[in-house]
Amino acid sequence: PLMEELLGLSVLEDRIREAYGLQQVVIVPGDSDTSASTKQNLGRAGARALLSVMRDDDIVAVTGGFTLAEVAEQLSPTLPAPLRDAWFVPARGGLGENMEYQANSIVSTMAKRVGAQYRLLHVPDLLRRDAYELLYEDENVREIVEFIRRARIIIHGIGDAMEMVRRRRLDPQLVEEIRGAGAVAESFGHYFNAEGQTVHHMLTLGLQLEDIANAEVVIGIAGGRSKAQSIHAVLKFGQEDILVIDEAAAREIVKEL
Ligand code: BG6
Repeated sequence: PLMEELLGLSVLEDRIREAYGLQQVVIVPGDSDTSASTKQNLGRAGARALLSVMRDDDIVAVTGGFTLAEVAEQLSPTLPAPLRDAWFVPARGGLGENMEYQANSIVSTMAKRVGAQYRLLHVPDLLRRDAYELLYEDENVREIVEFIRRARIIIHGIGDAMEMVRRRRLDPQLVEEIRGAGAVAESFGHYFNAEGQTVHHMLTLGLQLEDIANAEVVIGIAGGRSKAQSIHAVLKFGQEDILVIDEAAAREIVKEL
């Protein structure tokens, strides 16, 4: 049965890759919703995918979340050549989550693991627009934001929209707005409906949608049957180059191809 399972996964990879014109799809066996080892394997596959495209002088923008924290955990410290001149940066300045799952923490772990450099950006998630504008007037803030926006590689998690509004403790009125707009997915502070259209985005210092379109390599990583709909929405959004998911999510996604 093991051979069959493996065969099954590579067929799934090809189908999703072709349907969305992706460079690469990696599917790990199992369901991250219920299996800790699947989560680990997903993180390891994400780490491998990242290292396979990283160059020595890269800027890599990273989002937060459990999944990216697992990628950082699984990054192997022994590389053929250390990435001394590469930089890890957070994709955005949001701090709405637990410390361990914030992009800033993940960025520093990743950089240390592969001997690279990192820069951080600390901005609260729920600032008023005028406060954002004022921050951006600061030369130091602007310099780091512009650095982030030059990222050649973006590696991001994909969340369920309603779970993410809860984790970020958005106010009830905003939650209703986002729900009412049909949001099913969230990634890098943007909320997407099932068709992959942006229906809401958080004010953020960091990557903007145009930067995601301009980045050379966008790596999306998420797992679990419960994330299938969200992953599918982000695929329809259409900016992914490499997708790393698990079998449970993949089997749901192919049902709708
Ligand atoms: C957030 C990222 O921190 O984590 C999002 O900014 C992503 O891009 C979300 O949607 C996913 O989180 P997790 O914990 O399910 O991997």
